Amino acid sequence: MSDFYRSRISGTGSYLPEKLLTNYDLEKLVETSHDWIVERTGIHQRHIAADGQATSDLAYEATLKALDDANLKIKDIDAILFATVSPDQIMPSTACVLQQKLGCGNIMALDISAACSGFVYGFSIANDLIKVGSYKNILVIGAEVLHRYVNYKERDTCILFGDGAGAAIISRAEKTQDSQVYSQRLGADGSVGDLFVLPAGGSKLPFSQKVLDENLQYVRMKGREIFKHAVRSMTEMSESVLKENNMTVKDVDWLIPHQANIRILESVAKHFEIPLEKVVVNIANVGNTSAGTIPIALDEAIRDGRIKRGQNIMLTAFGAGLTMGSAIFKY
Ligand code: ACO
Repeated sequence: MSDFYRSRISGTGSYLPEKLLTNYDLEKLVETSHDWIVERTGIHQRHIAADGQATSDLAYEATLKALDDANLKIKDIDAILFATVSPDQIMPSTACVLQQKLGCGNIMALDISAACSGFVYGFSIANDLIKVGSYKNILVIGAEVLHRYVNYKERDTCILFGDGAGAAIISRAEKTQDSQVYSQRLGADGSVGDLFVLPAGGSKLPFSQKVLDENLQYVRMKGREIFKHAVRSMTEMSESVLKENNMTVKDVDWLIPHQANIRILESVAKHFEIPLEKVVVNIANVGNTSAGTIPIALDEAIRDGRIKRGQNIMLTAFGAGLTMGSAIFKY
């Protein structure tokens, strides 16, 4: 299908809960140390949602900021794509909950379950829907309250994850605006789905006393194997999308990778020979917020002036599934 329109990011916003969980706090919960966590992950602290605060609450705050940035009103949004693996509930979708909280009418609202690649998936789907003319302003959210799925007795997972939300409004570009999404590439490899799982709570293993006794309500991860897949999938996806646009990394002003582990980010940057100064990194203060990391990092870099209109940005992510994706756009 030929494209009728170009799409662009018209506004971004993010929200991080106030409460912090530092490495020193974790030292009191599991056998670990601040120095070990910083050396192996780059993380110093994570934000943690307050009691009663759900994923849609974080997303609501991020959305209001994105709308303000885009100079749009709630009624201008005509679809919601909500990337999360920590939904408010399994049913209804968190996109529907957010739609109701915003009061934006009976517009299309859909959750995307692609873990840490969720925002890149949502961004890409929004881009294609805008290009064919189906919608004008799509709200894409990446938001998580992951800390409720983490066992604070397991040191390999509890050090990584935090809560947060990022939002971007993907809009139809005016003829006079030269910012645009160039293209994206998405993928998944279900054969390694066992590397990162949340075993219980679905139709395969519903909640029971046995589930609670065996702590199956918490995420399980094979960290070392994920690490290898992460670097490979992010570099392959990025190479592919660069090639498709006849671009090289020299044409990219900023790389925004999923913030999983500083060593993964450094390996990707090294592969592309991109100096770390051109990589947006906020993992020290935010940790891994899964679908939230990329839109939060994007919003922070726009608001502090690092990312400017007219610059080329490359997003790249991997996540449980395993899912993967990269996208390039001119902001
Ligand atoms: N503190 C101290 N020691 C620890 C800790 C800890 N928090 N966690 C593990 N260790 C120990 C291990 O037990 C092991 O000890 P041993 O050698 O006596 O057996 C040793 O440290 C090394 O363990 P490794 O697992 O090899 O450590 P590694 O350097 O791989 O770091 C980590 C672990 C941080 C989990 C890393 O593998 C990683 O970040 N992987 C990617 C994880 C990821 O990105 N997950 C999410 C992906 S999908 C998504 O984002 C939703």
